[in-house]
Amino acid sequence: MSKAKKKKEKQLKHLNTRKILDELAFGLTVPTAEPAKQYFYMNLCKQYLARKKQEAGKEFTFCIRTFGCQMNAKDSEKLKGILLEIGYTQIDSEDADFVLYNTCTVRENANLKVYGHLGYLQNLKQKNPDKLIALCGCMMQEEHVVKKIKESYRFVDIVFGTHNIYLLSELLWKRFYSGKMVVDIWDKAQQIVEDLPSCRDYSFKSGVNIMYGCNNFCSYCIVPYVRGRERSRKPEDIIAEVKKLADEGVVEVMLLGQNVNSYGKTLEQPISFAELLKMVEEVDGIKRIRFMTPHPKDLSEELIQVMKYSKKICRQMHLPLQSGSTAILKDMNRRYTKEQYLALVERIKQEIPDVSLSTDIIVGYPGETEEDFQDTIDVVRKVQYDSAFTFIYSKRTGTPAAAQENQVPDDVVKERFSRLLQEISLASAACLKKHLGKTMEVLVEEMSSEDGIVTGRLSNNTLVHFAGDRTLIGKTVNVKLEEDKGFYYIGTQIN
Ligand code: 5AD
Ligand code: SF4
Repeated sequence: MSKAKKKKEKQLKHLNTRKILDELAFGLTVPTAEPAKQYFYMNLCKQYLARKKQEAGKEFTFCIRTFGCQMNAKDSEKLKGILLEIGYTQIDSEDADFVLYNTCTVRENANLKVYGHLGYLQNLKQKNPDKLIALCGCMMQEEHVVKKIKESYRFVDIVFGTHNIYLLSELLWKRFYSGKMVVDIWDKAQQIVEDLPSCRDYSFKSGVNIMYGCNNFCSYCIVPYVRGRERSRKPEDIIAEVKKLADEGVVEVMLLGQNVNSYGKTLEQPISFAELLKMVEEVDGIKRIRFMTPHPKDLSEELIQVMKYSKKICRQMHLPLQSGSTAILKDMNRRYTKEQYLALVERIKQEIPDVSLSTDIIVGYPGETEEDFQDTIDVVRKVQYDSAFTFIYSKRTGTPAAAQENQVPDDVVKERFSRLLQEISLASAACLKKHLGKTMEVLVEEMSSEDGIVTGRLSNNTLVHFAGDRTLIGKTVNVKLEEDKGFYYIGTQIN
């Protein structure tokens, strides 16, 4: 078929689609308030999809790929909830009729991965005329990314950002109606929209957003630019969500925020993070509380004390170090010194002796000398982290650090990185030895890849494998930790 004929046929098909959409929306008024407006669009999309499904005599499928952190994972649960409500069926393959990438941009390679995948999606789209491709999340908040997509990836159907993920059904409707790429990026959040559908990845545990955005502006980090300023949710909304989750059978919640220590400070009625934790502790049915991420610069004594006396807050603290060098920390705008960090760790260990600590470390920040790096190694040796996420510094356009000229050569960074990994694995192995032989409580999470074996987590987050079946998932059981496998235990159920 000639190109012109193909175009004509596409136009005719689109006119027909528009006719159906007009019929569905005829006489209806779009609500102005949220979330009513979104439920309105969800319902319209649902009716349209039902017709398409009937016509084609098949299910319409979706697939969401999530890059990056727990925040994105939580957002993807909401996106999934909306797509299920509209009537799409979830599959785990890019062959789906609706493919959505929830992107991350913390490091450059996360961006490269997305561009790589897009080429592949274009091929699949040529074989499936119903296929829609949507991109959302942090990477889409960067102007140069959206420009590149508009210019070089014209086959993408919907582009939206971090502040308007709840608009998915409205944007989908707009895409159906216009037949063209829909781009909707907001440079800041307008409101926190609650009470939309959400589909949890696990039945027994869930993340709960307590705040959005970040005000810290660490000099290497793009998050404050793509996630905007700090906004705390009201404690009553958080507690209502936790209660609802508990009613649905959730026993573990992870309170999520870029810097949970500054939770509540800007609310009309200010409240501290420690006070919020005490309120969550009161919710019946919740057995374990985790949180992520506390910034070391403002971790309060009040929080340490609440953790110490809590029966539910897990014996685990993720305390990002980033660098052990005071000079680098200053340049990173982290607002603590090596000594202050070590003193804080001492204080936490003194009050909560069975706590396990994990961290984030960046290697190769501009200007990092061997001496600076030795300070990082020194902190790792002194703190003895159970686990650490290690990152090679990645230059992020628009951040202050990216403009610095003293970038560390790749080979030097790689060599330091492997020395750091070695040091961390020594510390992790030593931590694992501490509890070997003890009987501890495990929350069972899933079947292991091995037959008849389940995996679960200790309060301190270490994984444990032991013989069991599917009925144990979501339950807490006592397990004797018998063998140490480097980063997990093998044990036997006792009760
Ligand atoms: N390069 C490397 N790592 C980074 N992180 C944030 N920004 C960068 C960057 N530009 C790491 C930090 C942070 C974690 C989520 O990602 O360690 O704590
Ligand atoms: Fe980025 Fe620093 Fe905010 Fe964490 S605290 S999100 S590292 S700016």
